[in-house]
Amino acid sequence: MVAEMQQSAGAQTVKALKNAAVSLVLLPRFLVAAVVLWFLDFLCIRKKVLLRMRDHEGGPDDPPVCISDSNRMFSLESLKAVWHGQKLDFFKSAHLGQRAPNTEVVQLKEQKTRVASQYADIADSLLVYIEEAHPSDGWASSDAPYQIPKHRCLEDRLKAAQLLNLEVPGCLVVADTMENSSNAAYGAYFERLYILKDEKVAYQGGRGPEGYSISELRSWLDQYRNSLENSITVVIHV
Ligand SMILES: *[C@@H]1O[C@H](CO)[C@@H](O)[C@H](O)[C@H]1NC(C)=O
Repeated sequence: MVAEMQQSAGAQTVKALKNAAVSLVLLPRFLVAAVVLWFLDFLCIRKKVLLRMRDHEGGPDDPPVCISDSNRMFSLESLKAVWHGQKLDFFKSAHLGQRAPNTEVVQLKEQKTRVASQYADIADSLLVYIEEAHPSDGWASSDAPYQIPKHRCLEDRLKAAQLLNLEVPGCLVVADTMENSSNAAYGAYFERLYILKDEKVAYQGGRGPEGYSISELRSWLDQYRNSLENSITVVIHV
């Protein structure tokens, strides 16, 4: 009994030490993000930064980052959300070139299955709806198209996913489980793009919103399509 208690105390100490080590590693990144959020609350700075970001966008595919003047960026809720996202990213198991985690997802009812049209010949599209980036009872944003509170149960999540399903008719939409296993494995929060090929991660987009680039995804797919066409040509020559 005593040995058992000592063992569990030992395990807890290891866990606490591990948590402390991770916090130390993540702290610089987190502080930078916090300072950026703080600066973004000065509207003149926010305007300049948003203009800059728009200039550096890859093309018409990428949704412009928009933050209304009334939305505060630096708050307890926003800091919690940023910390949560950075931790998920740190612990994710999906890494470029490595085996793609095959996480469980939940299918929506009454779904018309169609795949994203332009690349349907070379890729199937799947949208996994994860936890809300801007829940109305958390880091709320008036720029969000819907005001959705944090999902308390799968039912809540599926209802919200259904709204998304209406927004993106070209893509199969599923929902993350309430264990958030896809979100954790892929470090998906707030939003993220991946390409999986032969059960491996072939493309890993940056963490959204700033790292979310549809044009980058598109250029990967274009290159892939070209390489397929070229390899077909080679076969014909032989
Ligand atoms: C999954 O995410 C939801 C937020 O949508 C949260 O309420 C819940 O606690 C998370 N589940 C786990 C197991 O962390």
